[in-house]
Amino acid sequence: MSKDALEVLRGHESLRKFTSVKITTEQMDAIYDAITQSSSTCFFQFVTTIVVQDPEKLAAIAKLAGNQGHIAKCSHFLFFCLDMTKLMHMYDIKPPFGLRFLIGGLNDCSICCERALVAAEAQGLGGVIVGGYKRGIKEVCSLLKLPQGVVPLLGLCLGVPDEEFREEQKPRLPRHWFIMDEEFHDPFNAEELAAYDQKMLAYYQNRRYNQCDETWSSSTKGMLLGSYCDAKDIIACLKEQGFDYF
Ligand SMILES: Cc1cc2nc3c(=O)[nH]c(=O)nc-3n(C[C@H](O)[C@H](O)[C@H](O)COP(=O)(O)O)c2cc1C
Repeated sequence: MSKDALEVLRGHESLRKFTSVKITTEQMDAIYDAITQSSSTCFFQFVTTIVVQDPEKLAAIAKLAGNQGHIAKCSHFLFFCLDMTKLMHMYDIKPPFGLRFLIGGLNDCSICCERALVAAEAQGLGGVIVGGYKRGIKEVCSLLKLPQGVVPLLGLCLGVPDEEFREEQKPRLPRHWFIMDEEFHDPFNAEELAAYDQKMLAYYQNRRYNQCDETWSSSTKGMLLGSYCDAKDIIACLKEQGFDYF
Protein backbone atom coordinates (compact mmCIF):
# COMPACT_ATOMS: atom_id res chain seq x y z
CA MET A 1 0.00 0.00 0.00
CA SER A 2 1.30 3.44 -0.78
CA LYS A 3 -0.44 6.73 0.02
CA ASP A 4 0.00 10.22 -1.37
CA ALA A 5 2.89 11.98 0.43
CA LEU A 6 0.83 14.91 1.71
CA GLU A 7 -1.93 12.59 2.89
CA VAL A 8 0.64 10.63 4.90
CA LEU A 9 2.19 13.76 6.42
CA ARG A 10 -1.20 15.29 7.32
CA GLY A 11 -2.47 11.99 8.69
CA HIS A 12 0.33 11.36 11.20
CA GLU A 13 -0.51 10.00 14.62
CA SER A 14 1.72 7.98 16.93
CA LEU A 15 0.61 4.34 17.21
CA ARG A 16 1.30 2.24 20.27
CA LYS A 17 -0.99 -0.76 19.71
CA PHE A 18 0.27 -3.38 17.30
CA THR A 19 -0.92 -6.79 16.11
CA SER A 20 1.48 -9.72 16.44
CA VAL A 21 2.05 -9.67 12.65
CA LYS A 22 5.63 -8.87 11.65
CA ILE A 23 6.47 -6.11 9.17
CA THR A 24 7.63 -7.81 5.95
CA THR A 25 11.18 -7.67 4.58
CA GLU A 26 9.93 -5.69 1.55
CA GLN A 27 8.24 -3.13 3.81
CA MET A 28 11.39 -2.81 5.93
CA ASP A 29 13.47 -2.40 2.75
CA ALA A 30 11.40 0.63 1.78
CA ILE A 31 11.97 2.05 5.28
CA TYR A 32 15.73 1.41 5.01
CA ASP A 33 15.76 3.19 1.61
CA ALA A 34 14.08 6.21 3.23
CA ILE A 35 16.71 6.24 5.99
CA THR A 36 19.63 5.74 3.59
CA GLN A 37 18.69 8.68 1.35
CA SER A 38 18.35 11.14 4.27
CA SER A 39 20.10 14.50 4.15
CA SER A 40 23.34 14.45 6.11
CA THR A 41 25.33 17.12 7.99
CA CYS A 42 28.55 17.84 6.01
CA PHE A 43 27.63 14.61 4.19
CA PHE A 44 29.35 12.76 7.05
CA GLN A 45 26.77 9.92 6.78
CA PHE A 46 27.37 9.24 10.45
CA VAL A 47 23.98 7.78 11.43
CA THR A 48 24.00 4.04 12.09
CA THR A 49 20.58 2.44 12.54
CA ILE A 50 20.50 -0.66 14.73
CA VAL A 51 17.38 -2.75 14.24
CA VAL A 52 16.19 -4.87 17.16
CA GLN A 53 13.67 -7.71 16.73
CA ASP A 54 14.78 -10.16 19.42
CA PRO A 55 11.80 -10.38 21.85
CA GLU A 56 14.10 -10.55 24.89
CA LYS A 57 15.94 -7.42 23.87
CA LEU A 58 12.66 -5.66 23.06
CA ALA A 59 11.38 -6.52 26.54
CA ALA A 60 14.59 -5.16 28.09
CA ILE A 61 14.34 -1.90 26.10
CA ALA A 62 10.65 -1.55 27.08
CA LYS A 63 11.64 -1.84 30.74
CA LEU A 64 14.58 0.58 30.46
CA ALA A 65 12.24 3.08 28.78
CA GLY A 66 10.03 3.17 31.88
CA ASN A 67 7.85 0.12 31.12
CA GLN A 68 6.63 1.19 27.69
CA GLY A 69 4.69 -1.98 26.85
CA HIS A 70 4.33 -1.11 23.14
CA ILE A 71 8.11 -1.54 22.70
CA ALA A 72 7.95 -5.15 23.92
CA LYS A 73 5.12 -5.86 21.45
CA CYS A 74 6.43 -4.04 18.38
CA SER A 75 7.72 -5.71 15.24
CA HIS A 76 10.98 -3.77 14.84
CA PHE A 77 12.66 -1.24 17.13
CA LEU A 78 15.18 1.07 15.47
CA PHE A 79 17.96 2.89 17.32
CA PHE A 80 19.40 5.85 15.43
CA CYS A 81 22.99 6.27 16.61
CA LEU A 82 25.55 8.97 16.01
CA ASP A 83 28.48 6.86 14.81
CA MET A 84 31.96 8.39 14.44
CA THR A 85 33.71 5.06 13.82
CA LYS A 86 33.77 5.29 10.01
CA LEU A 87 35.50 8.69 10.21
CA MET A 88 37.80 7.37 12.96
CA HIS A 89 38.97 4.56 10.63
CA MET A 90 39.57 7.01 7.80
CA TYR A 91 41.32 9.84 9.67
CA ASP A 92 43.51 10.33 12.68
CA ILE A 93 40.68 11.51 14.93
CA LYS A 94 39.87 10.21 18.40
CA PRO A 95 37.31 10.84 21.14
CA PRO A 96 36.24 13.09 22.72
CA PHE A 97 34.14 14.59 19.92
CA GLY A 98 32.61 18.01 20.65
CA LEU A 99 29.28 19.77 20.33
CA ARG A 100 29.65 20.21 16.57
CA PHE A 101 29.30 16.45 16.16
CA LEU A 102 26.63 16.05 18.80
CA ILE A 103 24.41 18.73 17.22
CA GLY A 104 25.01 17.38 13.72
CA GLY A 105 24.37 13.82 14.89
CA LEU A 106 21.18 14.77 16.71
CA ASN A 107 19.90 16.59 13.63
CA ASP A 108 20.74 13.67 11.35
CA CYS A 109 19.28 11.02 13.69
CA SER A 110 16.04 13.04 13.92
CA ILE A 111 15.81 13.34 10.14
CA CYS A 112 16.42 9.60 9.63
CA CYS A 113 13.91 8.70 12.33
CA GLU A 114 11.11 10.87 10.96
CA ARG A 115 11.74 9.67 7.40
CA ALA A 116 11.55 6.06 8.62
CA LEU A 117 8.25 6.78 10.38
CA VAL A 118 6.80 8.47 7.28
CA ALA A 119 7.92 5.52 5.11
CA ALA A 120 6.19 3.17 7.55
CA GLU A 121 2.99 5.25 7.63
CA ALA A 122 2.97 5.44 3.81
CA GLN A 123 2.77 1.63 3.77
CA GLY A 124 -0.12 1.49 6.25
CA LEU A 125 2.21 0.62 9.14
CA GLY A 126 2.54 2.66 12.31
CA GLY A 127 4.79 3.53 15.18
CA VAL A 128 6.04 5.98 17.71
CA ILE A 129 9.30 7.84 18.19
CA VAL A 130 10.89 6.85 21.49
CA GLY A 131 13.22 8.98 23.59
CA GLY A 132 12.25 7.35 26.89
CA TYR A 133 15.04 4.74 26.68
CA LYS A 134 17.44 7.55 27.64
CA ARG A 135 16.52 6.77 31.26
CA GLY A 136 18.61 3.64 30.73
CA ILE A 137 20.97 4.89 28.03
CA LYS A 138 24.04 3.27 29.61
CA GLU A 139 22.35 -0.14 29.65
CA VAL A 140 21.18 0.38 26.05
CA CYS A 141 24.81 1.03 25.01
CA SER A 142 25.79 -2.32 26.60
CA LEU A 143 22.80 -4.15 25.08
CA LEU A 144 23.75 -2.92 21.60
CA LYS A 145 27.50 -3.46 22.25
CA LEU A 146 28.27 0.11 21.20
CA PRO A 147 31.98 0.96 21.06
CA GLN A 148 33.42 4.41 21.82
CA GLY A 149 32.38 6.93 19.20
CA VAL A 150 28.80 5.60 18.96
CA VAL A 151 25.81 6.81 20.97
CA PRO A 152 22.06 6.12 20.51
CA LEU A 153 20.28 9.47 20.05
CA LEU A 154 16.73 8.41 19.12
CA GLY A 155 14.50 5.34 18.97
CA LEU A 156 11.57 4.29 16.79
CA CYS A 157 9.05 1.59 17.56
CA LEU A 158 7.35 0.14 14.45
CA GLY A 159 4.59 -2.39 13.91
CA VAL A 160 1.43 -3.39 12.12
CA PRO A 161 -1.33 -1.24 13.66
CA ASP A 162 -4.13 -2.86 15.60
CA GLU A 163 -6.93 -0.91 13.90
CA GLU A 164 -9.24 -1.48 16.84
CA PHE A 165 -7.12 0.98 18.80
CA ARG A 166 -6.58 3.64 16.15
CA GLU A 167 -7.26 7.04 17.70
CA GLU A 168 -8.39 10.44 16.52
CA GLN A 169 -5.40 12.60 15.63
CA LYS A 170 -4.05 14.61 18.57
CA PRO A 171 -5.06 18.27 18.07
CA ARG A 172 -2.30 20.85 17.74
CA LEU A 173 -1.98 24.49 18.84
CA PRO A 174 -3.25 27.02 16.28
CA ARG A 175 -0.83 27.24 13.37
CA HIS A 176 0.16 30.88 14.03
CA TRP A 177 1.62 29.76 17.40
CA PHE A 178 4.52 28.14 15.58
CA ILE A 179 4.62 29.38 12.00
CA MET A 180 5.50 33.07 11.68
CA ASP A 181 6.11 35.44 8.79
CA GLU A 182 9.51 37.06 8.52
CA GLU A 183 10.20 37.56 12.23
CA PHE A 184 9.22 36.41 15.69
CA HIS A 185 5.81 37.48 17.03
CA ASP A 186 4.97 36.26 20.52
CA PRO A 187 1.78 34.28 19.83
CA PHE A 188 0.78 33.69 23.45
CA ASN A 189 -2.92 34.31 24.01
CA ALA A 190 -4.68 33.09 27.15
CA GLU A 191 -8.07 32.71 25.45
CA GLU A 192 -6.66 30.62 22.61
CA LEU A 193 -4.77 28.52 25.13
CA ALA A 194 -7.98 27.94 27.12
CA ALA A 195 -9.81 26.93 23.92
CA TYR A 196 -6.97 24.55 23.00
CA ASP A 197 -7.00 23.05 26.50
CA GLN A 198 -10.73 22.35 26.08
CA LYS A 199 -10.04 20.60 22.77
CA MET A 200 -7.29 18.50 24.36
CA LEU A 201 -9.49 17.66 27.36
CA ALA A 202 -12.19 16.37 24.98
CA TYR A 203 -9.51 14.38 23.09
CA TYR A 204 -8.10 12.78 26.25
CA GLN A 205 -11.54 12.03 27.72
CA ASN A 206 -12.91 10.47 24.53
CA ARG A 207 -9.95 8.50 23.20
CA ARG A 208 -10.26 4.73 23.11
CA TYR A 209 -7.60 3.88 25.66
CA ASN A 210 -5.71 5.62 28.50
CA GLN A 211 -8.57 8.10 28.91
CA CYS A 212 -7.85 10.85 31.43
CA ASP A 213 -8.77 14.40 32.37
CA GLU A 214 -5.57 16.05 31.14
CA THR A 215 -5.31 19.25 29.13
CA TRP A 216 -2.26 20.44 27.20
CA SER A 217 -1.40 22.81 30.07
CA SER A 218 -1.63 20.08 32.71
CA SER A 219 0.30 17.50 30.71
CA THR A 220 3.16 19.89 29.85
CA LYS A 221 3.33 20.99 33.49
CA GLY A 222 3.62 17.34 34.54
CA MET A 223 6.42 16.78 32.02
CA LEU A 224 8.27 19.96 33.04
CA LEU A 225 8.09 19.50 36.78
CA GLY A 226 8.11 15.69 37.05
CA SER A 227 11.30 13.74 37.64
CA TYR A 228 11.47 12.74 34.00
CA CYS A 229 15.07 11.73 33.47
CA ASP A 230 18.34 12.64 35.11
CA ALA A 231 20.45 14.62 32.61
CA LYS A 232 23.55 13.78 34.66
CA ASP A 233 23.26 10.11 33.60
CA ILE A 234 22.92 11.08 29.94
CA ILE A 235 25.93 13.42 30.12
CA ALA A 236 27.98 10.71 31.87
CA CYS A 237 27.05 8.20 29.17
CA LEU A 238 27.84 10.65 26.35
CA LYS A 239 31.29 11.17 27.89
CA GLU A 240 31.84 7.44 28.27
CA GLN A 241 30.96 6.92 24.62
CA GLY A 242 33.47 9.59 23.58
CA PHE A 243 31.42 12.78 23.27
CA ASP A 244 31.68 16.09 25.09
CA TYR A 245 30.17 19.58 24.82
CA PHE A 246 33.22 21.75 24.14
C1 LIG B 1 11.97 13.04 20.44
C2 LIG B 1 10.67 12.37 20.80
C3 LIG B 1 10.65 11.45 21.82
C4 LIG B 1 9.45 10.77 22.14
N1 LIG B 1 9.47 9.80 23.10
C5 LIG B 1 8.36 9.08 23.34
C6 LIG B 1 8.41 7.99 24.25
O1 LIG B 1 9.44 7.67 24.84
N2 LIG B 1 7.25 7.28 24.42
C7 LIG B 1 6.08 7.58 23.75
O2 LIG B 1 5.10 6.88 23.96
N3 LIG B 1 6.01 8.62 22.89
C8 LIG B 1 7.12 9.36 22.65
N4 LIG B 1 7.09 10.38 21.74
C9 LIG B 1 5.84 10.62 20.96
C10 LIG B 1 5.08 11.87 21.44
O3 LIG B 1 4.49 11.60 22.69
C11 LIG B 1 4.00 12.22 20.41
O4 LIG B 1 4.61 12.51 19.17
C12 LIG B 1 3.16 13.41 20.86
O5 LIG B 1 2.41 13.10 22.00
C13 LIG B 1 2.19 13.85 19.77
O6 LIG B 1 1.33 12.78 19.45
P1 LIG B 1 1.17 12.28 17.92
O7 LIG B 1 2.56 11.92 17.42
O8 LIG B 1 0.24 11.10 17.98
O9 LIG B 1 0.57 13.41 17.15
C14 LIG B 1 8.25 11.08 21.42
C15 LIG B 1 8.29 12.03 20.40
C16 LIG B 1 9.47 12.66 20.08
C17 LIG B 1 9.48 13.67 18.94
